Formats: sequence, structure tokens, C-alpha cells
Amino acid sequence: MTEALLERVSRACSAGKPFDAAAQEVCALLRKEVPRYNWIGVYMVDGKDSLLLKAWDGPKATEHVRIPISKGVCGAAVREAQTIVVDDVKKDPRYLSCFLSTRSEIVVPIFANGKVVGEIDIDSDKTAAFGDDDRRFLERAAAALASAYVD
Ligand code: SME
Repeated sequence: MTEALLERVSRACSAGKPFDAAAQEVCALLRKEVPRYNWIGVYMVDGKDSLLLKAWDGPKATEHVRIPISKGVCGAAVREAQTIVVDDVKKDPRYLSCFLSTRSEIVVPIFANGKVVGEIDIDSDKTAAFGDDDRRFLERAAAALASAYVD
């Protein structure tokens, strides 16, 4: 993960671009540049109780377009307001299954005004695909996305 890639993420979120368009560009860019990121989605908090999928890139659509905040790794990241890394999805009871090929997952909250307003969700077909570098990089990507977010 390079500064150059982060720079491209920031450019995708540049001023004036609608949030959903920025999110779509970031999903496509990350999947193209980081081969172990097999499916990438951006969910946004919608109302009090759920997350709604706003953008994604991957081989297949997910059936989890709307996820209750009470459920899944995605819901847990909102409730805990922190990044969650799952090294082996088969061992995490919170995991909501989307793709049979998924082995690990990272969910990174997007903060605006100190509150979680959404998240980046990435699935990998490799076990333990997400390390500290990924976490740091994606937290900065989430901050770039937050800059494109208008409440
Ligand atoms: N696995 C997620 C659900 C979303 S899919 O990965 C696209 C979860 O456990 O919340």
C-alpha cells in the first residue's frame, strides 16, 4: 500500500464530487490495485437502525444490500465505532456470509463529526489477508471518503 495509491483515493474524493460517485471510484480503484481485496463495498448508515450499500466492486453482487446495525461484522463496526479485522470468517459468529470464497474481512468505519456515518467493507479470499498496514491505509481512505460526505 503506497502513498501514491492513497493520493489517487483522495483525488477520487475531491471536492464537489457526489459521495456515491466518489465511493464507487474508490471501490473500483482499490480492487484493481490490491489483488487480495476481492470484494469492496461502501455501506452508509441509513436511519437509526441499518446500513445501506451505496457502492461496491467485485465479481458478484451481495444479497446484503441492507444490514441491520444489530447484525454482522458490519453492524459491529458501527456499534463499536472501530475497525474490525476478522482473520477467519468461519470462526467469527458475527459474520454474515456473502460469498463462499471469502476467508477474511476488514470493516473500517467512516467518521463525520465524530460519529460513524458509514464504512468500507472488504472481503478477501485469503485467510488473514488484512494486517496493520491495511488497517492504517484503509482508515486514511475512510477519512478521504468522509471528506466527500455531506450530511
Ligand atoms: N460479511 C458482512 C456482510 C456484508 S458482505 O461481506 C458483503 C458482515 O458480516 O457484516
